[in-house]
Amino acid sequence: MLNGKRILLIIGGGIAAFKLPELIRRLRERGASVTPVLTKAAQEFVTPLTIGSLAGEKVYTDLFDLTDEAEMGHIQLSRVADLVVVAPATADLMAKMAQGQANDLASTLLLATDTPVMIAPAMNVRMWDHPATQRNLALLQGDGITVLGPNEGDMACGEYGPGRMVEPMEILAGIEAALTDGPLKGKRILVTSGPTHEPIDPVRYIANRSSGAQGTAIAKALVALGAEVVFVTGPADVPPPEGVVLRQVESAKDMLTAVEAALPVDAGVFAAAVADWRVASASGSKIKKQNGKLPVLEFAENPDILATISQLDQGRPGLVVGFAAETDDVIANATAKRQRKGCDWIVANDVSPETGIMGGSENAVTLISEDGAENWPRMGKDAVAVKLANRIAEAVLR
Ligand code: CTP
Repeated sequence: MLNGKRILLIIGGGIAAFKLPELIRRLRERGASVTPVLTKAAQEFVTPLTIGSLAGEKVYTDLFDLTDEAEMGHIQLSRVADLVVVAPATADLMAKMAQGQANDLASTLLLATDTPVMIAPAMNVRMWDHPATQRNLALLQGDGITVLGPNEGDMACGEYGPGRMVEPMEILAGIEAALTDGPLKGKRILVTSGPTHEPIDPVRYIANRSSGAQGTAIAKALVALGAEVVFVTGPADVPPPEGVVLRQVESAKDMLTAVEAALPVDAGVFAAAVADWRVASASGSKIKKQNGKLPVLEFAENPDILATISQLDQGRPGLVVGFAAETDDVIANATAKRQRKGCDWIVANDVSPETGIMGGSENAVTLISEDGAENWPRMGKDAVAVKLANRIAEAVLR
């Protein structure tokens, strides 16, 4: 997918630098070439030898290396790439970039380049939250730089919060989206997919028969049109698509949290078969047999993710697409569902057992929008996905 693409990879001095060998390996697997640049601080975390061996290319570290200048001047080095990627982008590197400083090789390249730049920030949570960093972030975004993350989580320094570098596979997805041409290039689309698992106790759960096939096919079709796809999936049977920002969750509540964290997006496609109910108080330890006395499970209603996002006052995606799996009165039920939940489109299908659609490879859908109901012929789930992705592209670009 990245055949022949050239990435100039600037590695900053943060603990997350140890994840960069993985990124380099994945980029090369996909046919990209990687020219690494290490800042002085980065060399405290990863060695030029490791990075150079994996990249299979010369590693650049010094601004005033006469041999380098004889081979390839820094101006040229900054311009031959299709994309410049800075990871981890430390607070210091971001500040230098925002101010236009050029006092080492990395910052000089970043000032001299006329190539698109993408950064994956990583730093302590307080440094990230500091007004100075947030100011620099706004300046960089204003300059057209793509910013991936950071993620929220445990930090190497023992604190918790936003500041963790996004995972190598997410950087890869960002790079693929940036370098793939297509009508949806520059658009960010959320797709939910798969079933959810609602725990009963640590070893048991309630689930449904969704395989995740339709949501996965839709995500693939959107990636092929050049979109950046955030794919929030429950535990599915089919492997997740390549080239997406992957968020794997278990329960409906986790899915809602991941969906909210993915906003803002240009469109949201809610293909997940979210469990309507969860066990009200899941047991923290395994429920044991009690001499023939049967356990009674009490249920609580799960949040409706599609309705929550459709009814947002602020940050509602420009297009919200829901699904309606029905067994009776498909069109009437789905039309009512569109009204009730407040989404723009509903992709309705008949999941009666005799149709073989749930868990099968084909689908027969009706697209319900404000213009009415449109029946699509029965076709493979991949074909439904491609047709739907094209319709989404038309609507998002309108
Ligand atoms: N959905 C959701 N969150 C839920 C339940 C459903 O986001 N808690 C979304 C699904 O992803 C799908 C749509 O809502 O896009 C419709 O799902 P469906 O199961 O058909 O509808 P329900 O709301 O469960 O309605 P009912 O069970 O009454 O048919």
